[in-house]
Amino acid sequence: MKADISKIVSRLEEIYQCGAKEDGTHTRMAFSKEDVKARELFTGWAEQLGMSHRMDAAGNLIVRMEGKNPGLPAILMGSHMDTVPDGGRYDGVVGCVGALSVCEAMAEEGYVPNHPIEVIVFTDEEGFRFGKGLLGSSAICGQDPDISDDEPDIYGEARGRVMETYGIRSENVLEAKRDKDSVHCFIELHVEQGATLDKSGTSIGIVSSIAGVNRYEVTVTGEANHAGSTTMEDRRDALVAAAGFINKVPEVTTEYGNHFTVATVGTIKVTPHSVNVIPGTCTFSLEIRDQSNEVMKLIEQKLQESLGDICKKYDVSYTFVPTSFHEPAPMCDWVKAKIEEAVKELGYDYKVIPSGAFHDSLIMTGVFPTAMIFVPSVNGISHNRNEFTREEDIEKGCNVLLETVLKVDEMI
Ligand code: GLV
Ligand code: MN
Ligand code: MN
Repeated sequence: MKADISKIVSRLEEIYQCGAKEDGTHTRMAFSKEDVKARELFTGWAEQLGMSHRMDAAGNLIVRMEGKNPGLPAILMGSHMDTVPDGGRYDGVVGCVGALSVCEAMAEEGYVPNHPIEVIVFTDEEGFRFGKGLLGSSAICGQDPDISDDEPDIYGEARGRVMETYGIRSENVLEAKRDKDSVHCFIELHVEQGATLDKSGTSIGIVSSIAGVNRYEVTVTGEANHAGSTTMEDRRDALVAAAGFINKVPEVTTEYGNHFTVATVGTIKVTPHSVNVIPGTCTFSLEIRDQSNEVMKLIEQKLQESLGDICKKYDVSYTFVPTSFHEPAPMCDWVKAKIEEAVKELGYDYKVIPSGAFHDSLIMTGVFPTAMIFVPSVNGISHNRNEFTREEDIEKGCNVLLETVLKVDEMI
């Protein structure tokens, strides 16, 4: 039994078209009409395979193939299909389309699994629209995602309105929670998004653990004033102070972190945002990631100290507000071992590597036995329209997923 790479490639292309624009950009924001269109395509393919489909209270699209024994817990696969702004064509989608190809290979061989098999297309993994992701997996795991219908997205649209495309409401999302015992395991296929596999010419990665990610909103407050008549010495420029801090972020992170420690300022806005007014406030996001909680806490402390010193120098004040916390998440040993057995039997080369990017598996592993299969991202490029993964690697990844599912299905 093997995955059909020609179908996988044509489906990746069809999903890509839901979000590809004439100017060369590619964006499929969660809850957007492009996202809804992609989900319709996915549902149609699942129907052709005789699979049932439903959307849960958190908007997760779940397609299901029944097994011989309906009393057994389900084997879950899947990933996400929403993208970052101008994102790539593989991030997330490979795991969804690849999981469907596993079901298709089974259906075509007339193989009926022992366990029910489900493919989940998770809701709003990327989270750039509302500033926090992993919505669907958090709800499935019973973690309150702390959302409300009133909160605005980056364009000022209320979440309640935005989520109408899925027909879901904030107050109900936790109804998507699943019982631990209803799931045998969860396996996510994904592109690496870093360069380890590509640099070493390795086709398959088995993920050891996923980096934790802590996010903060920082606001520096100075004084808005006239850009012509305020002398340089009389200014309390919020943006100049913020820029001084942002410039320090790489230095502090490198000094106190390790090879895996990263910190990023990814969004920034100033008020009143006028060419002839000295910025009165500057608000920006800060994100810290590492494989160790202690290191993340140390970096937070050192960055806050640096922010305090710089704000003092410029006579401005600041607030440093945590917005989300996720601890580093090790993958499940027995599911990893099944993936390793599958890779060895297929004769593919592999490496065990950590993930710097987060995934729905970061949340899922807290409740369900979870592991991830990586395929190489050429030059480690991702969250970028130039993201590329070779067909032959996608094919290998799907075959590893298939063989792993067959192995975990034998466990009754
Ligand atoms: C998700 O792709 C993330 O790691 O930001
Ligand atoms: Mn992803
Ligand atoms: Mn992503």
